[in-house]
Amino acid sequence: MAKRLLSLSVVFLLVIATLLGCASSNESANSSSNGEEDRSKGEAKKEKNGGVVNVYTSRAYETDQELYKLFEKQTGIKVNVVEGKGDELMERLKIEGEATEADVFITADAGNLYVAKESGLLQPIESETIFNNIPDKYRDDENYWFGITKRARVIVYAKDRVNPSDLSTYEALTDDKWKGKIVVRSSENMYNISLLSSFIEVMGEEKATEWAQGIVNNMARDPQGNDRDQAKAVVAGEADLAIMNTYYIGLMLNSNDPEEVKVGKSVGIFFPNQETTGTHINVSAAAVTKYAKNVENAIKFIEFLTSEQAQGKFAAVNYEYPVNPNVEPSELLKSWGEFKEQDIDLTVLGKNQQQAIRIFNQVGWK
Ligand SMILES: [Fe+2]
Repeated sequence: MAKRLLSLSVVFLLVIATLLGCASSNESANSSSNGEEDRSKGEAKKEKNGGVVNVYTSRAYETDQELYKLFEKQTGIKVNVVEGKGDELMERLKIEGEATEADVFITADAGNLYVAKESGLLQPIESETIFNNIPDKYRDDENYWFGITKRARVIVYAKDRVNPSDLSTYEALTDDKWKGKIVVRSSENMYNISLLSSFIEVMGEEKATEWAQGIVNNMARDPQGNDRDQAKAVVAGEADLAIMNTYYIGLMLNSNDPEEVKVGKSVGIFFPNQETTGTHINVSAAAVTKYAKNVENAIKFIEFLTSEQAQGKFAAVNYEYPVNPNVEPSELLKSWGEFKEQDIDLTVLGKNQQQAIRIFNQVGWK
């Protein structure tokens, strides 16, 4: 393992050295008067035009790509994107350290953003525009990260077998009447870790443990697959209820795969805890990296992502909720109805993370 890490570091150093080498050879081309000079001038012109912003993102959505193009058009700032899984990109930021090219880091889940902040990968920023675009509750209290979309983790039910009037709260899912009828993905998944972290906050550790135990007791099968797979299992009759994020239903309803459309149509969305503590919400968020070289452009980029223009797009195409209160959700989201949200500080999702993982292990949630 150590050997593998060592060789990985060597590869990274080589990559960095190569990049630095390229940069300096471009510089020397500046002072020479060969054919290279024109190219350097071209590059200098591009810089004047607005420069670049380098983005590491775990959001691999077409909408995001379209928004980046729009930002380039409006500002002249070129957006370079590296896509990857959230934890892999965080690992990469750690290894690259000061040498990183990343200016902006985007990933899902306040729990992940908390880890990134604690690991020293981010820096706080000041922008009145961003502060005005996003309410306090959807951003870090020390301005290290800013929500760009909001998601709700709800109960999804089989329309032909479940009467939504039988549903009420997350807690009620632990009732014996749901024995063998619930599917939910693995406890290794950050969405579930954050869900339980929020319960530790709103109901205390003891009740949160009872809840997790109750869900394990009522599971129709060992946790497997992603959120979409839970809805598919419900429609296949393996279970009656799933705990999952709403936007996957939107994505399936609008999928090119007729099977997914059928799944989307066969399930209903129920927002739990409306009379009590509210439905669990989370965010995907953007942050400026600790070692960003283009901080100003990074801030402009996040200002854009939280603007009314961009927020409308996120909501319309990816079926996520806007964080900017001036932007209405899309028609589909509106058709699911308004809902009361959990009223907690999202940084709690990070702070309670280790406790949540311990509880999952304790109750045997695989
Ligand atoms: Fe997701």
